[in-house]
Amino acid sequence: MAAAFEAIDVHYAYNEVAALNGLSLRIEQGQRIALLGANGSGKSTLLRLLDALYFAERGQILAFGAELSEEAMQDDALAHRFRQRVGLVFQNPDVQLFNPTVFDEIAFGPLQLGWSKPDIRAAVDAAAREFRVEHLKDRSPHRLSGGEKKRVALASVLVINPEVLLLDEPTAALDPKSTSEMVDFLVSCRDSGRTVITATHDLSIIEDIADHCFVLQAGRVVASGTPAEILADEALLHRAHLAHVHRHVHEDGTQHSHHHLHEH
Ligand SMILES: Nc1ncnc2c1ncn2[C@@H]1O[C@H](COP(=O)(O)OP(=O)(O)OP(=O)(O)O)[C@@H](O)[C@H]1O
Ligand SMILES: [Mg+2]
Repeated sequence: MAAAFEAIDVHYAYNEVAALNGLSLRIEQGQRIALLGANGSGKSTLLRLLDALYFAERGQILAFGAELSEEAMQDDALAHRFRQRVGLVFQNPDVQLFNPTVFDEIAFGPLQLGWSKPDIRAAVDAAAREFRVEHLKDRSPHRLSGGEKKRVALASVLVINPEVLLLDEPTAALDPKSTSEMVDFLVSCRDSGRTVITATHDLSIIEDIADHCFVLQAGRVVASGTPAEILADEALLHRAHLAHVHRHVHEDGTQHSHHHLHEH
């Protein structure tokens, strides 16, 4: 079986700012992957290349064995099939949401894919229920709280049931209840055949949401392993800015610092 994605020595720059710098990785179909790395290490850029929004300037990205290139995506049939298979939930929902109502927002993908009216209505209702945004259906997505926007963005991607799900910091704006529902959802993706790639800083959830992790630094993969292997490598987590230093002030006024890993 072809890999879901293969990135081979991928380079990408925003004007003069290098974002991906010789990145290589392979993701099998059905794997749940966590992308870890400091701010600016290239996680969101990589997800945009995997979603064929940007294209490698050097090197190659293959999706299901075929190269993702600007030319290939100009083939409407191929692009349509790709959009049906792969869905990206952006880090910042404001970039994603553009419809007048939450209903229209969630219905947009199915409409683009040419589904029938009754199918669209049923799918929108189910997705809105799953992400607890039913009561917001007539509201403008731009006038919601950050977490509500994030849940609408998730519903608008999950509504088409893509076989590959790309999630950029999916829990970042969510309250504890919504976070634990998101984690439950990602746990349920295990052994479902769905490929899920999640960019996150939250080490406390990676054992639940991922079978395998890639650690990014300065636009390339510097380590990969199971969540347990990555969590055990304190030096790596420190180098990749994933563990923070804890400061205590003792009663006698002396300060003391040590690395702190989130308990899991
Ligand atoms: N639109 C843009 N224009 C110019 N440079 C950008 C743009 N978006 C990202 N960059 C740069 O590309 C590099 C990688 O950014 P990217 O957003 O991929 O990182 P990230 O790992 O997702 O970070 P974060 O954890 O903060 O979300 C950074 O140096 C960043 O400054
Ligand atoms: Mg990012």
